Amino acid sequence: MRLTLNGASREVRAGADASLLDVLRDGFGLRSMKDGCAPEGSCGACTVMVDGRAVVSCAQPASRFEGREVLTVEGLDAVTRTAWADAFVTAGASQCGYCSPGIVMKAEALLRRSPRPSRDEIARALAGNLCRCTGYTKILDAVELAALLMGRQEART
Ligand code: FES
Repeated sequence: MRLTLNGASREVRAGADASLLDVLRDGFGLRSMKDGCAPEGSCGACTVMVDGRAVVSCAQPASRFEGREVLTVEGLDAVTRTAWADAFVTAGASQCGYCSPGIVMKAEALLRRSPRPSRDEIARALAGNLCRCTGYTKILDAVELAALLMGRQEART
């Protein structure tokens, strides 16, 4: 199958039962997206963006993503990745870090459609992303901070 992965047209062999998560991790060797509950689709650790929308990559066959545009943490530009890292570190939003890439991609999709979301909007957007460490308050703080950091960066350019 062929898809656009992190901005580049890529081809990979995908078995009939392979999920998008399988293809990203085993076919392309990417490691940001995690398997927390596959194929349940209920923890959000495997979240990536497809055609600009956040999706869980474990719950659907890879073949459905033929020709689509997939974006993972690895494909975020350096400035955006640094903003997310700075926000998560400053807010203390990452402990074990297992869920962080899925949360970042869910929140990245949110900020692309709503650059300054309210705290309620952030909480609603992240409702499907489970984290066993942080208690969520710090994650909401981090997304608010990331929105501010990215707003500042846009103002400078
Ligand atoms: Fe996909 Fe949990 S691993 S939602």
